[in-house]
Amino acid sequence: MAIRTALCDLLGIEHPILLAGMGVWGMATPPALVAAVSEAGGLGVLGCSGLSPEEIRRRIKAVRALTDKPFGVDLLLPATLAPAATTRSGVRAELDEKFPEHVAFYRNLLTRFELAEAPVQDDIVISSEFIEAQIAVTLEEHVPVFAAGLGDPGRVTGRAKAQGMVTLGLAGSPRNAARQVEAGVDAVVAQGTEAGGHTGRVANFALIPQVVDAVGTTPVIAAGGISDGRGIAASMALGASGAWLGSLFLTADESDMPGACKDELIASRSTDMDVTRAWTGKTLRARKNEVSAAWAESGLDPLPTPHQRVLMEDFLEAVKSAKRWDLFMNAAGQGIGMVSKRKSAAEIMTDLIEGTERAMDELAARTGR
Ligand SMILES: Cc1cc2nc3c(=O)[nH]c(=O)nc-3n(C[C@H](O)[C@H](O)[C@H](O)COP(=O)(O)O)c2cc1C
Repeated sequence: MAIRTALCDLLGIEHPILLAGMGVWGMATPPALVAAVSEAGGLGVLGCSGLSPEEIRRRIKAVRALTDKPFGVDLLLPATLAPAATTRSGVRAELDEKFPEHVAFYRNLLTRFELAEAPVQDDIVISSEFIEAQIAVTLEEHVPVFAAGLGDPGRVTGRAKAQGMVTLGLAGSPRNAARQVEAGVDAVVAQGTEAGGHTGRVANFALIPQVVDAVGTTPVIAAGGISDGRGIAASMALGASGAWLGSLFLTADESDMPGACKDELIASRSTDMDVTRAWTGKTLRARKNEVSAAWAESGLDPLPTPHQRVLMEDFLEAVKSAKRWDLFMNAAGQGIGMVSKRKSAAEIMTDLIEGTERAMDELAARTGR
């Protein structure tokens, strides 16, 4: 018997398995991956955080061309933004003026790894106006599900609900989960420290039950370190109604992450996935590499978003141009230690669905229930 929870009815899906919207310049969760997860009965979510409103619209239409099943859009909605210029060139000028040691760090990296400078070409930084334009497109396109990673979903929930959209909010602590519910989300994604990408400090064994207790009847979706059906079954035992998986899907055939990054993740152990503030200024779990090590050795304090981001995005653009994927920001979580080969999204979904059922049956058998 397929596993069904109330979350399936809320989202209009068959299996309570969600693809986490991941915003690595559009590479991590492209329309083909999102549509494949939705087609397999889960919920695909487009990670759109750094994308222009026009690109978000294009991707939404691309998903619709591939599936008529529900899907979502994930955006980052930082509750506060550090005072900064509202263009990339403006932030670069502020870096030169106020943070010369950080600029020297970036230049030293280019020299050390013999990379040609290749600054990002667009003039976009995440400002409040930019985020509002991203939200506007998502609402205009009547995307079935809106997910707010990081920050305050309150600026969207009212408008989204008025037009029948379901809203999700990510939280890394029980307090933040309660705030997400107050802000009006329909379900909370409880993200443990095991997770890839931006992450908090509490691990899922402690986090999920506390979030479940903190949010009353609001469904909870578990995220972080889940790479097979056992993780999904365990999350449900802790009180979750579904699972939100990122890292595992980075290795899917349909993900546009470079093959070298997928292979690096597949070869990695859980202990290779460490938290650093090198890449964005916020705590982010990624594959350890020479860049995160150089950052740790530098002793520099991370800059606020968007300064650290603009600095390191220019470095990453040089990395991309040179295809030095060993120096890339390969964000992923501890669950990657369990991933041993590349598969299609449909195969991943089948394995997750069957694995969850098997884990629940085995649990019942092992405990005489
Ligand atoms: C490469 C990468 C990029 C991510 N980008 C985002 C993002 O843009 N928005 C967001 O809400 N969460 C983002 N996350 C976090 C995921 O939504 C999710 O919580 C996490 O991947 C779950 O843990 P797991 O990676 O162990 O499955 C990202 C995670 C990764 C690995």
